[in-house]
Amino acid sequence: MAGNPKTPGLWRDVVLFDGHDTRAEPMAVVVEDDHISRVMPMTELGRDVAAGCREMGRGGVMTPGLVDCHTHLVFGGSRADEFEQRLEGVSYEEIARRGGGILSTVRATRAASEDELFAQARPRLQALMAEGVTSVEIKSGYGLTVADELKMLRVARRLGESLPVRVVTTLLGAHALPPEYRDDSDAYIELVCREMIPAAAEQGLADAVDVFCEKIAFSVAQCERVFEAAEAHGLPVKAHAEQLSNLGGTAMAARHGALSADHIEYLDEAGVAAMREAGSVAVLLPGAFHTLRETRLPPIEALRAASVPIAIATDANPGSSPLFHPTLMLNFACTLFRLTPREALAGMTAHGARALGLHGQGLGRIEAGAPADLCWWNAESPAALAYAVQPGRLRQRIFNGEVTHD
Ligand code: NIG
Ligand code: FE
Repeated sequence: MAGNPKTPGLWRDVVLFDGHDTRAEPMAVVVEDDHISRVMPMTELGRDVAAGCREMGRGGVMTPGLVDCHTHLVFGGSRADEFEQRLEGVSYEEIARRGGGILSTVRATRAASEDELFAQARPRLQALMAEGVTSVEIKSGYGLTVADELKMLRVARRLGESLPVRVVTTLLGAHALPPEYRDDSDAYIELVCREMIPAAAEQGLADAVDVFCEKIAFSVAQCERVFEAAEAHGLPVKAHAEQLSNLGGTAMAARHGALSADHIEYLDEAGVAAMREAGSVAVLLPGAFHTLRETRLPPIEALRAASVPIAIATDANPGSSPLFHPTLMLNFACTLFRLTPREALAGMTAHGARALGLHGQGLGRIEAGAPADLCWWNAESPAALAYAVQPGRLRQRIFNGEVTHD
């Protein structure tokens, strides 16, 4: 009946990964309405508690709902042709210099209507959800005009309204230099600062602002101007930085209190120290590393030594990471970056949530009071989720207390 609280749901005898670690003993989790109300070892589950609950599951593995904190899910067109060129030896940077790469997706995205972009992005998001994603970040960055960037952000918002998933939107106007500004990148940065950011902020379409700080994109000084404009509108910042070279974008982003610095294969010790000072999250993107056949590893040991939280995300996009498969990224994080399965899982739960500024609400963790975003898996251990690349293991996906996948 409307207004009556629902009977609490109970998952019992689960192997629990709480967002940071696997609990040593079998656990019980109780969900009331939209939040987790109790988390306890089975030995402490009294008969009275169990009797007041509806049993939703027994055994298996429970993790927080996965958090994919870096995606470019909204885009038009395909870059399968560039995939073939890269296999023939043409580099990602060379393709970008020839006007392909991100700009090829910009042409297709500008040509697509809002409804077309929505229809194309929806199954991509559903693919992530089928693998356990309950929170996802979606960036703009393939419009590069005020109207087209806002169009992308509206599509991202609509996706979050039409599907049971939390969508966090990020304005990435400074992703690439559009052809109209070929000889005047500063003028384009002015457009981003003076028009794009204010419009996105006023219309409530962006939760954060991102930049691509790289030789084939924007300089550290230009990215800093974008961050200053974001701050003036109360928006947190983050950066694609140190992906192909070491420009110092990460250290600059850290000075602006960035939520995260992403890719960071070329990050040096000073950059790691700056991230530690700022409390920024290191978002590692093994899908892009794999697709671009990179060889330079991110500075994992230095990040660990400095206790910089490490997140893992798909970077799902049509160019550098056409991989819409979050649990495959757990496997890649282990095999390519030598993260432990525990680190990889924390990277797609607790630390992914931190990279989006969602950790304060308890997202990415299983603890009393946190929103009930959970995954219940058919797996022998949490580590097995990173070990085997095996779709179909998700038995239930719980979003805001509702089982959305059974
Ligand atoms: O995260 N590094 C820049 N941006 C994206 C790639 C986007 C694309 O190639 O379309 C990334 O890898
Ligand atoms: Fe990216």
